[in-house]
Amino acid sequence: MNFNLPLLAPSILAADFSKLGEELKTCSDAGINWFHCDIMDGHFVPNISYGPGIVGAVRSTLPDAFLDVHLMIENPDQYLEDYADAGADLISVHYEACPHLHRTIQSIGQLGCMSGVVINPATPVSILKSILPDVDLVLLMSVNPGFGGQKFIESSYDKVRELAVMREEAGLSFLIEIDGGVGNKNIKKLSQAGVDVHVAGSSVFKSGDIPAAIRELEKLALSGTEKVA
Ligand code: DX5
Ligand code: ZN
Repeated sequence: MNFNLPLLAPSILAADFSKLGEELKTCSDAGINWFHCDIMDGHFVPNISYGPGIVGAVRSTLPDAFLDVHLMIENPDQYLEDYADAGADLISVHYEACPHLHRTIQSIGQLGCMSGVVINPATPVSILKSILPDVDLVLLMSVNPGFGGQKFIESSYDKVRELAVMREEAGLSFLIEIDGGVGNKNIKKLSQAGVDVHVAGSSVFKSGDIPAAIRELEKLALSGTEKVA
């Protein structure tokens, strides 16, 4: 599947759930096609968000959207099918939650979804070396998972750069996604570091003007890919 990179992936966790359909359409009308869905179980992370029902509601609201489901849950194997059935296009699982990661990634592919592996801020990129050939995407957490609106962790830039080098050296083409605290102060530098997919929750949905925030963030992300003369 080809994507117009770099792209902005609004995280619906930050949306106003009393008018979720309206806010999804506002993003879609502003040109957004990739939506990030944060699933939290209150065990792997200290917060509970929503389940397959909301993913299904997003799917029925936007039949053609690309739904990127980020599982911040224990025992993700138990729920992969529910999210695939709900309409996920991509399912990402945490390295820290999967004792049999290779099999979990295989299971996601067998369900017809693209697969992603996620690592927390304290987990080194190097630990992913042997799974990189099997995934479609690597998601780097730039906040500790569980909540939107947190402060961006500055050491994330180096992790992006390190992962981009690993991808180059291995001749792979997985996408690099960043998640947490992304906004107009860091998105350009994240693109320069090598990010393909920028997850943005609060900087989109809490901006007060969703279309304007999307335009500004996309412009900055793109400017980060321009070769410096
Ligand atoms: C945090 C989630 C992020 C979060 C991003 O655990 O994985 O996707 O919703 O929200 P902001 O962009 O507000 O940090
Ligand atoms: Zn997320």
